[in-house]
Amino acid sequence: MTSEKSSDKYNAKRFYGRRTGKRLNTSRAEALDTLLPKLCLSDEELSSTLRIKDVFAKSHDHNILEIGFGTGEHFLELARQNPDSGLIGVEPFINGMASFLRDLGEDSALPQDNIRVYMDDAMLVVEALEDQCLDKIYILNPDPWHKARHHKRRIIKPQNLDQFARVLKPGGQLVSSTDVPYLAEWIVEHTEAHKAFDWAAGNGDNWKQRPDWWIDNKYATKGAKGASEMHYMVFDKTL
Ligand SMILES: C[S@@+](CC[C@H](N)C(=O)[O-])C[C@H]1O[C@@H](n2cnc3c(N)ncnc32)[C@H](O)[C@@H]1O
Repeated sequence: MTSEKSSDKYNAKRFYGRRTGKRLNTSRAEALDTLLPKLCLSDEELSSTLRIKDVFAKSHDHNILEIGFGTGEHFLELARQNPDSGLIGVEPFINGMASFLRDLGEDSALPQDNIRVYMDDAMLVVEALEDQCLDKIYILNPDPWHKARHHKRRIIKPQNLDQFARVLKPGGQLVSSTDVPYLAEWIVEHTEAHKAFDWAAGNGDNWKQRPDWWIDNKYATKGAKGASEMHYMVFDKTL
């Protein structure tokens, strides 16, 4: 199996941005071929209302979505810490998805029946999900889309916040982070302006304070720059 064959099979539907990068090595290409068909949400599942109880082999009281997991180290740690939760992870970048699936496959202690993935725009999953089915949505270090004319591509924006509010349970949380100061301002300004969200009590008005339950990923640990400028944002869904 060559990397071109692996990536040619998966075509973008609605994602803005790069989908492929370095050639996949054998272990990542194999993980993609064996685990993706097993774990990936299908177009059929997304074509009508997606009930959370139908997403996993058994239903879970607690369900988590991570949007744009990159190479998946945070999502993998979520899986380790939450073996009894349902976990959906979305990443359109094939190299990132393949890295996550390889690491998941190599951890034989981890159950896989509570994990589903999707390799395209996360909003296709969010828009399909039924109301009030998620406890947490993580959007860590989203792409900043620096140019003003591209701001509408940012994942945290009013129309998507309506959808995040719809799928979160009352008392659920939207968790985000960034090391780009003006993106942090954008996220807080738009999320606080939304009637369904409030800064969470433990993190409110101090975005430099790292919550003690936070799982660091490459972004937070890559060096002094990222670490010292990281903004941590936790919002409660209040309605
Ligand atoms: C800057 S990276 C951060 C990756 C990871 N969350 C981290 O903190 O290391 C942003 C990620 O979001 C993904 N992404 C961008 N737009 C997305 C979308 N609409 N749906 C799902 N993922 C998206 C990108 O492919 C990329 O992997």
